[in-house]
Amino acid sequence: MSDDARRFPDHFLFGAATAAYQIEGAAHEDGRTDSIWDAFSRVPGAVIDGHNGDVATDHYHRYRDDVALMKDLGLQTYRFSTSWSRVRPDGGPANAKGLDFYSRLVDELLGAGIKPWLTLYHWDLPQALEERGGWTNRDTSELFRDYAMTVHEALGDRVGVWTTLNEPWCSSFLSYTAGAHAPGRQSVEDGLAAAHHLLLGHGLAVQSLRAADPSLEIGITLNLTVAKPVDPTNEGDLDAARRIDGQFNRFFLEPIFHGVYPQDVVADVAGNNFESYVKEGDLEIISTPIDALGVNYYHGEHVTSTPVEVETGGQAPTERPTRSPFPAAENVHWHPQDLETTSMGWEIEPWLLRDLLVHVDREYTGPAGTAIWVTENGAAFDDELVDGAVHDEGRTRFLAGHLDAILDTIDDGVDVRGYFYWSLLDNYEWAWGYHKRFGIVRVDYDTQERTVKDSGLAYREIIAARSLPA
Ligand code: NOJ
Repeated sequence: MSDDARRFPDHFLFGAATAAYQIEGAAHEDGRTDSIWDAFSRVPGAVIDGHNGDVATDHYHRYRDDVALMKDLGLQTYRFSTSWSRVRPDGGPANAKGLDFYSRLVDELLGAGIKPWLTLYHWDLPQALEERGGWTNRDTSELFRDYAMTVHEALGDRVGVWTTLNEPWCSSFLSYTAGAHAPGRQSVEDGLAAAHHLLLGHGLAVQSLRAADPSLEIGITLNLTVAKPVDPTNEGDLDAARRIDGQFNRFFLEPIFHGVYPQDVVADVAGNNFESYVKEGDLEIISTPIDALGVNYYHGEHVTSTPVEVETGGQAPTERPTRSPFPAAENVHWHPQDLETTSMGWEIEPWLLRDLLVHVDREYTGPAGTAIWVTENGAAFDDELVDGAVHDEGRTRFLAGHLDAILDTIDDGVDVRGYFYWSLLDNYEWAWGYHKRFGIVRVDYDTQERTVKDSGLAYREIIAARSLPA
């Protein structure tokens, strides 16, 4: 293959991603009220060392410097999220000061020639709404639509790309069933209700945003995976893979693209009242066409129905008891492949990204005419700062390996439009607190000093060359 063929297409955009609670800090400033993550991080044992997002990377005050850093790296687009509790504190009326922060951020990005990519919900529901039932309350879907429109009224003149939800699997099953993320509930029924109401909120927001401005690029971001049976000839293993594919992928892709819930998963969770939450007309709303599907990919799942000694996963070892996040997969077991892992314990399998994108394009985005973007992919490592530098070869290899898989996917005929590395900055890794570092830029949490890691320098070169080093 000639060098030219390995260049990224001209329309392909390189970016990096963050999320409000993980980077902003300023948790009690300018009218912001508690989100479920502020409340959850106060629960003894919920987050390692009780870390919280009160200060985080102080991006609320340092956003200008951070945008300058993005410009210096050559980023073409930046994916960030808005905080519901900043924009509509307690889920109530709009807060001009909160909106003003995002307005200034967007202006700064545009001034630097960086395309803003806005996500409306990256897991930080106002705590006041959780006290009214959170995502298990159907009203939250409508309130989400109202919040989306408040943000659109303020920023719609300058932001063209709108993502409704980030990883609804996490904000439902991991949060309302496993109890590993805020709000920390542990109920199969609540996880299912939350998943449906999140999807309903997505659909309602898509419809209202579309009606307000047909030119917007609107979409959703899902954490998708490739579920592989350890022994493809073993029925139990095949069923384990079906269950994982069902809950991570099809439970979200099917209603969004085909207007139905996968019946096998619905059967798996029978007895948990799921269908009582799905009202007439909901699936039509949820399947309102979208322009962009964001795929977050970190690793695959190699599963078996027979217990194995070592389990991979990466759920934070909290002091609180948590339960399986998989309401219909209590007897699914993970099988490590003896591959290199990140500090989350996640095995590094870039080739599965290609399989995933080709599959999603063939079954869902291609026929629907929806563009596909990799909205997250990244690695945590135990970085060390040595003489003002971070020699994070592992992360550079991870980045290049996944970009290479994307080039292969493009060669396969899939129009992948762009890539966002997770994350721009080291930040608050949810139940892991500040213990896991994903950034291409290091953050010293004592001084808030930023240091571009070697992986950031390598990414800058890749972006400038629009190709991978030989
Ligand atoms: C997915 C989430 O969207 C993000 O918030 C998180 O930090 C990364 N994955 C890494 O776990």
